[in-house]
Amino acid sequence: MVSSAIPDHLHCARTRPASLRPGFQAPYPAYSVRFPEHASQLVMAIIGAQYQSEADVDGAAQSMLSTFLTCPSNPPSFIEWASVTDNKGFYNLSALGYWPSKAAYEAWAEKSGFLEWWQALKPEACQHGWFLEVFFPTMDRIETLFNTTDAVEGFAHMGEAMSGEVQEHGYWGSMRDRLPISQTDSLPGTPATAEDFDSPEPSSFGIGSRVKIPGKKNLVVIRSGQNWLDTSPAERELYLDTMHPVLIKGMNFLRDQGDQVGCYSCRFMEIVDPVTTKADNDRTFGLAYFDDLGSLERWCREHPTHLAIFGGFHQYARKLNNNVTLRVFHEVMVLEPEQQLFEYVACHPGTGMWMIGSG
Ligand code: HEM
Repeated sequence: MVSSAIPDHLHCARTRPASLRPGFQAPYPAYSVRFPEHASQLVMAIIGAQYQSEADVDGAAQSMLSTFLTCPSNPPSFIEWASVTDNKGFYNLSALGYWPSKAAYEAWAEKSGFLEWWQALKPEACQHGWFLEVFFPTMDRIETLFNTTDAVEGFAHMGEAMSGEVQEHGYWGSMRDRLPISQTDSLPGTPATAEDFDSPEPSSFGIGSRVKIPGKKNLVVIRSGQNWLDTSPAERELYLDTMHPVLIKGMNFLRDQGDQVGCYSCRFMEIVDPVTTKADNDRTFGLAYFDDLGSLERWCREHPTHLAIFGGFHQYARKLNNNVTLRVFHEVMVLEPEQQLFEYVACHPGTGMWMIGSG
């Protein structure tokens, strides 16, 4: 028995057609997180430190951020750490924090001392860059999809339960159908222009500024994760030999040539141990920002890089007779400008949403 990915209390009379065809049955199951009915707005924050190279990491940033994040007043419901070396060669170490409401996030930021510290940061005195990217989606602007019900990831830490098998998946356009707001809103973004991507080389700017980037209409944020921790040795080998390389290709394309498809930023991140910062968790995720939901849909449906990932996954499942232990999930938000916060201190242009034309 399948159910809708949109919970009953967020259903309304459609003024926009869904892509789901009557009678469609997906060939495999997938699930969405069910959030408490009283939840109105969740928060995901990425708080990062940026170093010229991994060798510069001395533990001070993690230890300071950990102190803030574990403050007893409104700490995040869930925290994890992830790292990525970007295409300018900088090493970025981030804490990802999730809160059950904007009020909880704001109370934490104030009472933990984080906000005061953040506002007082002087770029010229920083030994390395810092960045803060925070998203405040209302419940109608989030959708999640998981291939199993036993892995709790990201926003699912604030969920009440997993849904039963959802009907809106297994066809292109299903991401949009799962977003409650798409029942009545076509979610137009602001098309990215060539100037948006025109960032200078790090050497030409010097490190020394604080930049706040305004939000963009219906900006899309996707975190798409992979977890091969519990795979058998044979499945792990298959994953690392066949899926992982095509995934890296896709993520590199979005990172380096995102301007061709409306992708502002893509980081392919590894979950790391918060103390050692070693990536020994067998978990990765792509974190990407798109100018429009249609741009993300097009990349998935048409671009050889996601088609290779998608096709590769079906071959992978066939080789394993559909006994797949790999866990994949994604969470997608389509955000109003005021539901986004991007601030960069002593980072290089090209970090996240900081691009010269983006102001
Ligand atoms: C959809 C596989 C990585 C973006 C899908 C679907 C599969 C798939 C099977 C269809 C899901 C369904 O509706 O049942 C994978 C695998 C990945 C991966 C195995 C990694 C190993 C990514 C990444 C991104 C991404 C990194 C973006 C950063 C999407 C989106 C959809 C999708 C947005 C929904 C498209 C729509 O409904 O129109 N992927 N994918 N995927 N994937 Fe991927």
